[in-house]
Amino acid sequence: MRVALFASEMDPYVKTGGLADVVGSLPKELLSYINNVDVFLPFYRDIERGNFQVTKTKIEFKLKLGSKTLNGQVYKIEDRGVSVYLIDNYHLFRKRSDLYVRGGKDYPDNLERFVFFCKGALAVIEQLSLEQSYDIFHCHDWQTALIPLYTQISDFYKNRNRPMTVYTIHNLAYQGKFPKSKFPILQLPRKYLSPNYLESWGKLNLMKAGLKFADELTTVSPTYAKEIQTKELGAGLHDILTTRKKNLTGILNGVDYSIWNPEKSSHLAANYSLADTSGKVECKKFIQKYFSLPVESDVLLTGLVSRLAWQKGMNLVIAALKDLLPEHQLQFVLLGSGDTKLEEEFLDLRKRFPNQIGVKIGFSQALAHQIEAGIDAFLMPSRYEPCGLNDKYSLRYGSVPIVHHTGGLADSVIDYQTHPIRGTGFIFYEFTVESFKEAMINALKIFQRKSEWAELMKRGMKQDFSWSKSAEQYIEVYKRHIK
Ligand code: ADP
Ligand code: GLC
Repeated sequence: MRVALFASEMDPYVKTGGLADVVGSLPKELLSYINNVDVFLPFYRDIERGNFQVTKTKIEFKLKLGSKTLNGQVYKIEDRGVSVYLIDNYHLFRKRSDLYVRGGKDYPDNLERFVFFCKGALAVIEQLSLEQSYDIFHCHDWQTALIPLYTQISDFYKNRNRPMTVYTIHNLAYQGKFPKSKFPILQLPRKYLSPNYLESWGKLNLMKAGLKFADELTTVSPTYAKEIQTKELGAGLHDILTTRKKNLTGILNGVDYSIWNPEKSSHLAANYSLADTSGKVECKKFIQKYFSLPVESDVLLTGLVSRLAWQKGMNLVIAALKDLLPEHQLQFVLLGSGDTKLEEEFLDLRKRFPNQIGVKIGFSQALAHQIEAGIDAFLMPSRYEPCGLNDKYSLRYGSVPIVHHTGGLADSVIDYQTHPIRGTGFIFYEFTVESFKEAMINALKIFQRKSEWAELMKRGMKQDFSWSKSAEQYIEVYKRHIK
């Protein structure tokens, strides 16, 4: 079986969130089951300037986008058995410092950029198919959602086997919505601009192309697969998802334990393991010093690493901290960026509680590992969370997760309050400041009982979210349409 995977991010080349983690590790895992996986990615500046072995191929293509004709080239990285094809147009990708936004605003030509990427990748595959053809096209998120539609109507597949298409929803809230007037850029027959196809609530909606035309749909946890079929979490698309529920599978993301592992991570002040957790004490000191907080082992050090977005429930964190910090032995550290208002609110809070709060606005893989290892408890009060990776990383790093019962968090963390024998974290069920505070207060209480906390922490470290089970489930989905 040959799989082509299309995405807009891939770790370690380019990353803004969990999509990159998934696209970075899934292909290697799939190679345990099938013999070929290639990835198609835009060629961004981060990749060009990173320390990667990029080679230029001879493949070139020309594309019409609306009234413009654009040229494309293809570069390539060979990554442990996976070929990563980089679709290049200097002005659309390499010229820019950020992936999707600048100064908090989407690039005005994001539609052109990702139509170019989808059509470009397919043009490259047409050239490559003299040597190879794919059985599966696996597309991720709205940036690649046009691929199932283009594939279905392409002349190229009229007298060849058309690859089966799989579309994975990593986050239903990001749909790729544009003014309908931009439809000509897609170079599609006019009929596709209707509520039956790509129009949704008066906008051109790219994600709908994936939801309507992919042979199979997946999303990144079983609970989220159910939630997105409800009006509340269906982001205006629950009707389509309900219609397609027979072809919609929830597959929990795995964790790449060769990267997210306190025994091996090269970023830590000290490594540690389930058998010997003493290094975690050093990691806690490191974080307290890094953020200029008092170095005290008896204070519950909480923290988080996150995009600062509405999804992530940061309003609960801010409100809960304001109430709890004055009365409790509690510290909090944050690494994140995004919404400037939230950034300012956290910086203000730090000014108010300089001995209890540390804030770093920015993006740093090293600090993300250091925080995971140094804190006692990871806060993840997301309003909704398709899968969530930091909760699973925290479990392995012995940092007890405190999470809202939603999406992939509900599928990964077991509540200690209701299951004292099996519990791995603290869950709150109502998305309110009061219930989040209650979970935090429970954590503060248990943290005082040292041996009980150590047991809870170690139970979390034993949890296994390795990729193999999830990769097997993807293979099952791929096989559904292969004779
Ligand atoms: P999402 O994809 O919705 O942002 P996930 O929990 O699935 O949420 O994944 C987030 C990923 O991005 C994790 O690997 C996390 O460590 C990383 N991340 C988020 N913000 C930052 C940041 N400011 N610096 C470094 N890594 C970050
Ligand atoms: C999205 C989701 C997150 C998920 C990630 C990887 O960004 O918000 O919950 O873990 O994709 O699938």
